[in-house]
This record gives sequence, structure tokens and C-alpha cells, in this order.
Amino acid sequence: MDSILIEGGNALQGEVQITGAKNSALKLMVAALLSDDPVTLTNMPELADTGFLAHLMRHLGAEVAIGPTGTMQICAKSLGEPVAPYDLVRKMRATFNVLGPLLARKGRAQVSLPGGCAIGARPVDLHLQALTALGAQIDLREGYAYAKAPDGLTGAKISFPFVSVGATEHAMLAAVLAKGETELLNAAREPEILDLAKLLNAMGARIKNAGQASIQITGVEKLHGTTYAVVSDRIEAGTYALAAAACPNSDVLVRNCVPSDLDALWAVMQRADIDVQMGETSVRIRRGPERLRAVDLETQAWPGFPTDLQAQFMALMTLADGASIIRETIFENRFMHAPELSRLGADISVHGREAVVRGVTGLTGAPVMATDLRASVSLVIAGLAAKGQTRVSRIYHLDRGFQNLEANFTALGANIRRVKDD
Ligand code: UD1
Repeated sequence: MDSILIEGGNALQGEVQITGAKNSALKLMVAALLSDDPVTLTNMPELADTGFLAHLMRHLGAEVAIGPTGTMQICAKSLGEPVAPYDLVRKMRATFNVLGPLLARKGRAQVSLPGGCAIGARPVDLHLQALTALGAQIDLREGYAYAKAPDGLTGAKISFPFVSVGATEHAMLAAVLAKGETELLNAAREPEILDLAKLLNAMGARIKNAGQASIQITGVEKLHGTTYAVVSDRIEAGTYALAAAACPNSDVLVRNCVPSDLDALWAVMQRADIDVQMGETSVRIRRGPERLRAVDLETQAWPGFPTDLQAQFMALMTLADGASIIRETIFENRFMHAPELSRLGADISVHGREAVVRGVTGLTGAPVMATDLRASVSLVIAGLAAKGQTRVSRIYHLDRGFQNLEANFTALGANIRRVKDD
């Protein structure tokens, strides 16, 4: 297994280029299952997660060709048995979203219940409720969802009891080929939802108001192929911005991003005394030698502060002047980075969904262990800001979601490298 070794204490200076969004790319790949024609995705990130999903899609009978420069072509003309086995689903939760498209195309499907990051129970009840409302009959046994819709799916009014990104996307993926009208109420509004709707509409779907809490979908008979560029990864952009903010005297230009997708982050960073200058497709982050101001934070569904940046923000607050209260409202177990950050000298106490971070004057490098994707990168950020050597182990989590992480940080002046464990 690999680890990442960091000699902390360097300022970060220069530019970093953001890739296509992992969370969007995965759902766009699944959308390609809905058409007989090839769908070409550009601005694709090259990540372990997109590789896992490509593997599953090939197993389902799709042809997946990965091009040299962030291009992927998927052709789902001849799907085979609609069975997604445990071994190909357990590593990543987003794979579960193949259920809806398989039902729409084949009238039946058998998909293993998912695994993914260990950040709470993360059930799929809302996904199943949405598919059931569209006419699927679903039976859960032996760790699988056995679903059928012998007469096809039919449009319905689906009101989510709370906001779920995955369930909203899954309902959209199933409803585009259902008969008649579907309305999704209390839908998620994340930029990735809009991205999925744009691809589906480019394939001939009729989706209105994606990005708002109420989405209308008129079912169509068939979807066709298209070429589509994945939206830029707002979480990757926010991560580099927070890394720059964590290291004194840094000046970093984050390029190829959509700054308006991160307004909630910029507002909090500015309150912490970080200089944030937004451009059209880039954002410049600067900070001086002084300590940052501690600010409180609560994660929220879009347009609130994203839960996927909470761990990185906590790393930043460990060195701020004062105490910061961080409240996680989306996932019930998403502070696993706190004890690891404490190993570097951070002062954090966790009470249920709330963490109190009392800023210290310095962190000191130590061996730490990654526990989930975003938690791992928060340890990298803390390691970059700490004095001395930090070794982050179990970094397969990082490879799931960050392309060229060490190369990007090295280009910004960090002393960071990947090593093989003994
Ligand atoms: C997606 C993102 C993830 C992000 C999260 C919230 C991908 C691949 N992942 O995850 O990075 O952190 O949105 O922005 O896009 N829930 C249920 N029942 C369900 C579905 C969800 O109880 O059927 C709960 C979850 O346990 C969680 C909350 O709803 O507490 C929100 O989860 P959801 O928005 O669905 O997250 P994901 O789509 O899994």
C-alpha cells in the first residue's frame, strides 16, 4: 500500500488546474446506459472511482473506451443480464444508480446494495421509494435489490422527505424514459444535478427546472447519443483553495473552476480573513503570515456549505486564532478526521454532530491514517501546514477522488511525495 509523505511548512504559490467533477462524472456515465447510441464525455477526471464504475458498466454489457485526454466514450447498445454483483458495487455507493436505468431499459434488474465511504449509515431508502413511486416492484433480499417493472415505468409525483443528491439523480435517471409526467419535490439543487439534467436533455430528455427544489420531467421514448463536457469539480477547487489558505504566505490561482458554485465557501473564508478574488473561471487565494480568524460553520445542502469540504475546513481552523464550532448536518458520522488531526497537535472535541476546534499556534508532523475520501485530504492539508514530517497512510481513499494530487501540490511548492509502505 502507498503512503504520502509531507515535509510541511512551505508556502503554496502558483496555479492549479481543476478537473471534471467526480460526483457528476459518475452519474453522467450511468446516464449513458439509457441510450443505444454512444455518449462521449469530455473533461473527465481520471480516478479510481470512474475506473470502478467503468468496470461495472462493461460487466453490464456497455462498451467503455477511455481516451487519452479526459475523454470517455460509452456505448450501451447491447446490454447483457442486468445484474450488478456485490464485488463491483461494494466499493462505491454511486454504482447503485445503475438500478433505475437498467429498469428503464430492461424492465428488470438485480443490483447489490452499496458500500462507499464510511461516513454514516447512508441507506438507499429514498432511492427505492422513488423507483417504487415510478412503478417498480422491489424486493430486498440477500444484500440485493431485485427490481422489476414489466409494463415499464410510469411518471409520478415524488416528494422527498429530505434532500438527497443521490436519490434525486436516481429519480431523474429513471423518470426520463418513464411514461408521462414526473414531478420531483424537495429535490436536491447541487450543481451536479444541473449537470446531469443538461446531459440528459442533450440526449433528448425533457427535464425542466433542474437546480431548483421542484423538477418536472416529461418522459420520452428514446434517448440519443451526444458529446458533453463534465462540469468542473467544485470540491477539488475548494480543497486547493483551503490548502492555500492553510499555509502562511500562500498565493494560489485555482483555474478551470466555476467560482459561483462555491459562494458559501468564499463567504466563510473571507470571514476568516483570507483574501479571495473571484474571476470568471478561476479564483485567487492569498493569505499573509498572520493567523486566521476562527469562524463557525454549518454544513448544508446546496447552496449551503458543502459537507464534502467540512474536513478540509476543519484542518484550516486547527491553526486559527480562537475557537470554531463546526456542525455537520448532512452525515451523522463525519468527524473521523478529528482524532487524526489531533495527532498533529490540533485541539478538537467532538460532541455528536458538533466539533469545537480551538486553534493552536502550530501543528507538528506525525503518522496519520486516512479514513474516507475527504477526511484524507484534510490530513494532507494539515500536514502541509504542520512543521516536520507527516505520513498519511491508506491513501487509496485519496486516489478515489483526487487526480494528480502530489504533482499539483509539488508544482505549488509543497514538499510531498508518494512512497511504498514496507
Ligand atoms: C452525494 C455525494 C457526496 C456528498 C453528498 C452530500 C456522490 C457520488 N456523492 O452523496 O460526496 O457528500 O451527496 O452532498 O455524488 N440518505 C438516506 N436515504 C437515502 C439517501 C440518502 O437516509 O436513500 C441520507 C444519507 O445517509 C445522508 C443524507 O441523506 O445522511 C444525504 O445523502 P445524499 O445527498 O443522498 O448523499 P449521496 O448522494 O450519497
